[in-house]
Amino acid sequence: MNDLQFKRHRRLRANERIRSMVRETFVRKEDLIYPIFVIEGSKIKNEVPSMPGVYQLSLDLLDEEVQSVVDLGIPSIILFGVPAEKDDVGSGAYHDHGIVQKAIRQVKKKFPDLIVIADTCLCEFTEHGHCGVVENGQILNDPSLKLLVETALSQAKAGADIIAPSNMMDGFVAAIRKGLDEAGFEHIPIMSYSVKYASAFYGPFRDAAGSAPQFGDRKTYQMDPANRLEAFREAQSDLEEGADFLMVKPALAYLDIIRELKERYTLPLVAYNVSGEYSMVKAAAQNGWIDEKKIVLELLTGMKRAGADLIITYFAKDVAKWLDEEK
Ligand code: PBG
Repeated sequence: MNDLQFKRHRRLRANERIRSMVRETFVRKEDLIYPIFVIEGSKIKNEVPSMPGVYQLSLDLLDEEVQSVVDLGIPSIILFGVPAEKDDVGSGAYHDHGIVQKAIRQVKKKFPDLIVIADTCLCEFTEHGHCGVVENGQILNDPSLKLLVETALSQAKAGADIIAPSNMMDGFVAAIRKGLDEAGFEHIPIMSYSVKYASAFYGPFRDAAGSAPQFGDRKTYQMDPANRLEAFREAQSDLEEGADFLMVKPALAYLDIIRELKERYTLPLVAYNVSGEYSMVKAAAQNGWIDEKKIVLELLTGMKRAGADLIITYFAKDVAKWLDEEK
C-alpha cells in the first residue's frame, strides 16, 4: 500500500462536526417564499387533491395561516387568487377589490413586516385560462401588456411589496416598470418569472388555481424545455427592461439553467419549486417510499447549490419546522 498515490477526501467527512465546518451550501429560512391560494367566499379551506397540505383559503381564514408562516420565521409569501367569476379579459385580476387585492390589504394591515409578493398574471381570472388577451384563438401580446400593467398597479396600490409578473408576454417587465414608475411606485421591485418553461409540472397548480387553459397550451408564450440559449435571451431582456430579480421555473429539471444564469447575471435569482415537484414528493412520501424530510432538504439544497438565492416552495412551512428541529 505504501507506494500507492491517492488523495484522502474522507478526512473531511470523518464526523458531523468536521462535515459541518466544510459545508458549502445552506438552506435558510430567509431563502423561503411560501405560496398561498386565496379564494372568494367564507369558511373555505379546500385541500387541493393533487397537493396534500396545500389549501384554497377564504379571507376569514387567511390571518391564521399567515400567522403560522410568520411564527415560523418565513419572511415572505406569494399570493395567487381564485376569483368568484371569470371573464374574457380577466377583470378580476386588476379590480381594486379583486381577491388578491383584498388579500394583500388584509395581510399588510395585520403583518406589515411580512414581504408580500403578488403574482401578476391573468390566467386565474380569464374564462379561457390563458395568460393574455385571446382573439381568434391567438394570445395577443401587446393588448395583454395593458392589462398586466393594470394588474400590477392595482396590486401595488393594495400594498404589495414585490410585483412578480408570470405571464411570459414579451415586454412585460418594461411595461410594468414604466407603469409603476409613472404611478409613483418606483420603489417597488419586479421579480420577473424570466425563464418560465411550458412545463407539465404545473398540472397540480392549475387544479389549485383553476387556471388550466381551456383550449390549446401555453407553448406560444412559455419556453420550450429543450432550450438553453433562449433562457439567456429571456433573462437578458428582463435585465435590460428593469427586473430586480430573475427566476427559473420549474426548478428540478432546470438546475443547469439556474447555474448558468447565476454565472452570467448578478441579480438575485429565484427558483420556483413548482406544484408537480411538490406532488411527486408528497405522493412517494405518503406511500412510505421515501423519507420526505430528507428528500425535500436534499432537493432544496440542490437548488441552492445550483445557484438559487431564493426558493418559492409549497414545502416552506415544513422546511422552517425542520430547520428548527435541527438546531
Ligand atoms: C400563472 C402561474 C402558474 C404557476 C405560477 N404562476 C401556472 C401556469 O403558468 O400555468 C405555476 C406554479 C406551480 O406549478 O407551482 N401563470
